[in-house]
Amino acid sequence: MINTDSTLHIEKVTSTRVGEVDFDNLVFGKTFTDHMFECEYKNGAWQRPTIKPYGPMLVYPGMKVFHYGQAVFEGMKAYKDENDDVFLFRPEQNLERINKSSKRMAIPEFPKEIFLEALNELVRLDKDWIQKGDGNSLYIRPFAIATEVGVSASPSKEYKFMILLSPVQAYYKGFVKVLIAEKYSRSADGGVGAAKAAGNYGAQFYPTSLAQEKGFQQIIWTDSNEHKYLEEAGTMNVFFRINDTLITAPTSDRILDGITRKSILDLAKHNGVNVDVRKLTVSELIAAAEDGSLKEIFGAGTAAVVSFISHFGFKDKIYELKEQSDSFAVMFKKQLNDIQYNISEDPFGWRK
Ligand code: COI
Repeated sequence: MINTDSTLHIEKVTSTRVGEVDFDNLVFGKTFTDHMFECEYKNGAWQRPTIKPYGPMLVYPGMKVFHYGQAVFEGMKAYKDENDDVFLFRPEQNLERINKSSKRMAIPEFPKEIFLEALNELVRLDKDWIQKGDGNSLYIRPFAIATEVGVSASPSKEYKFMILLSPVQAYYKGFVKVLIAEKYSRSADGGVGAAKAAGNYGAQFYPTSLAQEKGFQQIIWTDSNEHKYLEEAGTMNVFFRINDTLITAPTSDRILDGITRKSILDLAKHNGVNVDVRKLTVSELIAAAEDGSLKEIFGAGTAAVVSFISHFGFKDKIYELKEQSDSFAVMFKKQLNDIQYNISEDPFGWRK
């Protein structure tokens, strides 16, 4: 339900901070633009949507988000082309997904019209924070948190829906080394793995830090029942190329329905690449690495874009992947970039 006053209220900054930013040395997601969006939910309705200066906000220690992690988020991007025009990439997909995540976390869904209006206005206001050129973009972080004060374990009756903007470059610099999970799990059948619930990410920090001690940046999660099937890598979905077939796990209630993942599947079909969306076992992967039929592994996500995986570890062994002259990952990354930065035609209508 939307309250009667759904007109977007805008409070602009009196002076911009954009001149203080070192755009060549950005740390991913640490710098935020001048403005942010905020909309409160109370008395059963979303209240007046507001854009205001980015800054601290009032929180109470008793808010449910701090006790039960009732929070969801999204990751999306805006890009600037050579003519200084700005484009969003499939924004309605992110809205659809945050509302799915919200439903799973008992958070009220956010109205589409307000989301799209606020997003477009926010990006327009902070346009000068978007850098042109390969790898530069504006990372957009919509999120919703439970703000009702009270520690009874029940859904909050009050929320805040917010959008922050952060100028970014690549999430992973260079090749990524991944470790295949044998002990810990990211998600379970019937759980919240498919939702972009805040806790899904927090729960990965400890096992990922153990993997990092061994020299890996990320974990490829396996199914929680048998650790037999390869699922996703937490900050990105994963693709495997065995001979000339591109394989990725089917989405389920354990795996995030990645927007970059589905865009790559569409690009693959468009390019006539043989695609197999199926469960791939760890033992099939090891066999393919050993007989040379495993050509590539890469991750796909909004932050990660297309990230090349150079090594994967399993048990005590490390497997190296050679660079391919006809790399699928290179091809998909270029085609995606060209669409996102308005360099090529957009046959899919993804640019908005
Ligand atoms: C994204 O790619 O937008 C994500 O949500 C990953 C993030 C945790 C950095």
